Amino acid sequence: MNSATETIVIALTRGRILAETLPLLEQAGVQPLEDMACSRKLKFPTSMAGVSLLVMRGSDVPVYVENGAADMGVAGKDMLLEYGGDGLYEPLDLGIARCRLMTAMPEGASETGGRLRVATKFTRIAKRWFAEQGRQVELIRLDGALEIAPAMGLADAIVDIVDTGNTLRANGLAPAETIAEISSRVIVNKASMKIKSRPVRAILERLAAAVPAQPL
Ligand code: PRP
Repeated sequence: MNSATETIVIALTRGRILAETLPLLEQAGVQPLEDMACSRKLKFPTSMAGVSLLVMRGSDVPVYVENGAADMGVAGKDMLLEYGGDGLYEPLDLGIARCRLMTAMPEGASETGGRLRVATKFTRIAKRWFAEQGRQVELIRLDGALEIAPAMGLADAIVDIVDTGNTLRANGLAPAETIAEISSRVIVNKASMKIKSRPVRAILERLAAAVPAQPL
């Protein structure tokens, strides 16, 4: 980044995605100047002049990027699908934080054919997916404690992220259908891609070079 006038703000998703993103950013030459995981601050300068990092919840990353409060971002595909719209570019799959967005039901249960009660925090994705299949569902929005909802009689099924499957098993649930394969993606604000094309593309190229080859 050698133009003093161009600044680039990159919004990152806190937690596991942050832990897996930072080594890729470091290989791309962007290293936070202090430990992001140990700080209460939300904005960090980096080793690359003009480039700063924000850290936030994944659901907030597309909001910052689409509205131009950040030029670029890293968020899970689940968050991007739930956010929806076409107000962002999504030029790079980092291949990290891989998991699946799935439906799950109590072990041994099967659909009765009636109206299924589905608990999820991904209500837009679930609404679209069940509608595409012509299945009638009642969606129950929860922000957490999803996996216990069927056992407590709140729902018949859930839609949630499954990684190892341990959380499902620990709560007597079994995975059913895969709605989407998830990994973390780089997103870019549409105006930044044009106006700050040179530094944005430089960072994208360096990040792409840092991403290990993906299994087919
Ligand atoms: C996610 C997800 C599941 C769990 C799945 O929760 O919501 O609860 O991971 O992982 P597993 O298949 O390996 O058990 P996370 O701990 O990321 O927190 P969240 O509830 O805030 O999403």
